[in-house]
Amino acid sequence: MTGAGRGIGRALAVGLAAEGADVVLVARSRDELEGTAALVSTKATVVTADLADLSQVAEVAAAAGAVDILINNAAVPWPAGPTATLDPAEFANAVAINVTAVAALSIHLLPGMLERGWGRIVNLSSGAAQVPAFLNGGNAYTTTKYAVEGHTINLAAELAGSGVTANIYRPGTVATSMMTWVREGGGTAMDATVNEYFADVQQRGDLLTPEQSAGFLLARLPGEDTGQTWHAEDGIIARLEADPS
Ligand SMILES: NC(=O)c1ccc[n+]([C@@H]2O[C@H](COP(=O)([O-])OP(=O)(O)OC[C@H]3O[C@@H](n4cnc5c(N)ncnc54)[C@H](OP(=O)(O)O)[C@@H]3O)[C@@H](O)[C@H]2O)c1
Repeated sequence: MTGAGRGIGRALAVGLAAEGADVVLVARSRDELEGTAALVSTKATVVTADLADLSQVAEVAAAAGAVDILINNAAVPWPAGPTATLDPAEFANAVAINVTAVAALSIHLLPGMLERGWGRIVNLSSGAAQVPAFLNGGNAYTTTKYAVEGHTINLAAELAGSGVTANIYRPGTVATSMMTWVREGGGTAMDATVNEYFADVQQRGDLLTPEQSAGFLLARLPGEDTGQTWHAEDGIIARLEADPS
């Protein structure tokens, strides 16, 4: 479970543990990971690593041992701003965290999953990949999420029949530190139209909690579906159909 220190990743880790899974919690901030571990009743292993660094990604995989469920959740929304002003090195860093580390963890952990004949890989994406023109000033983020989706669908096709599934999860608009940064970043972040859009979502009370978003993903995880793009919004619609109140 990458990015397990806060936000959606913390909620997913706590939810997986509630189903009985031992969890390996990965991020840079040890204090946040320990906060997650304190919420988990099963075995929780804290592994601090910067996923931008491929040697640290390899160390994460080695420390994790046999993994049945890989959730690539960690990501950064920066660098943001007009593309002509971006630092190419910061763009490359975002690709390293949001894309290369995602693929690298699958590469490290797939042999064990294939040998055991069962595995679940879920890669977090975003509505930014569904509507690539939307995040004005979010070119790096949009690029990385689009890439993650292509990687995941192609991998799922390759793994068909192996017992290992690979799916995409778009978690909706969720109240996390990343969302606060996107909404309030002002001139240092994405375009004002983007800030305003997310401020409206917040004011309407339409932000999901991390636990709500995590719940939609965890409900789908045991199934055999593969190569799918799961949306939190599907879960909301299903809930409203079942109970419109
Ligand atoms: N929130 C939303 O509305 C929303 C919408 C669409 C998609 N998503 C996606 O959902 C996922 C989770 O987002 P969130 O909102 O929960 O974000 P968040 O609150 O910012 O949490 C991100 C997590 O990733 C970790 N992380 C970031 N950079 C890292 C690095 N270099 N190495 C290791 N860990 C790193 C962070 O820990 P450290 O900083 O301590 O490393 C943190 O635990 C992301 O993939 C995001 O793109 C979120």
